[in-house]
Amino acid sequence: MSSVLDKMGMKNFSEYITLIKKRDMNQITTLINKLTTNHTFFYREDNHYKFLKEVILPEQEKNNKTKIINIWSAGCSSGEEPYTTAMAIDDYFGIRKPQWSAKILATDISQNVLNKAAEAVYQEESIKNLPPTWKTKYLKKIDGGKYQIVQQIKNEVQFKIFNLMDPMPIIHKNKYQVVFCRNVMIYFDQNTKNELINRLYEAVQPGGYLFIGHSETVQRDKSNFKYICPAIYQKV
Ligand SMILES: C[S@@+](CC[C@H](N)C(=O)[O-])C[C@H]1O[C@@H](n2cnc3c(N)ncnc32)[C@H](O)[C@@H]1O
Repeated sequence: MSSVLDKMGMKNFSEYITLIKKRDMNQITTLINKLTTNHTFFYREDNHYKFLKEVILPEQEKNNKTKIINIWSAGCSSGEEPYTTAMAIDDYFGIRKPQWSAKILATDISQNVLNKAAEAVYQEESIKNLPPTWKTKYLKKIDGGKYQIVQQIKNEVQFKIFNLMDPMPIIHKNKYQVVFCRNVMIYFDQNTKNELINRLYEAVQPGGYLFIGHSETVQRDKSNFKYICPAIYQKV
């Protein structure tokens, strides 16, 4: 943070806090970008993608006559999570994919990470967990040893800035078959987590699923979600 103060020619934190209290939006955005931990990578927590492939997508094929799937990646960081999800769906349906509309809304509080997500260019380190066939199908090697997501996958993901502490009516335009809210609640106290989980419950379709991070929990007596297996819950 001291680099931010230096850049602005401020002597101390009190001056800075005064500016934040005046709700200077530029400063609030800079503060959010500095405070949030954005660490993420492709194919994080592979049991989620296994569950998507072996349980959720077969259920959709069997029961979802509309062939419309809505997924929300809440706290998507720089895009690795929603792009992995789009790849998993494309890989599962294969040549049947054009019969389906599977859209992913990806939101985050930080504009910095969303800009990176929209650019869709990644270092080798970030993609190392992806199955080799997915690397071939869904990534294009570009200059500097980096990788770009192919347009077909980019088209499936829409990025939007959204603070999970805000009311959710815009997000609630659709109900979601799957909500990813992984490694985001680390920022919140227990009451805030419980409230957020209850609001996510409203966003999930009956029969739909919530994925959280493996170090996170849903307090069972404070939520209607049914525990399925570690880090996976269902709205029954
Ligand atoms: C550690 S990353 C996790 C990214 C991804 N979900 C994963 O598991 O790999 C946490 C993300 O949550 C975002 N975040 C933190 N607080 C948030 C809030 N109140 N609303 C929306 N996003 C938030 C951060 O900006 C960050 O990009």
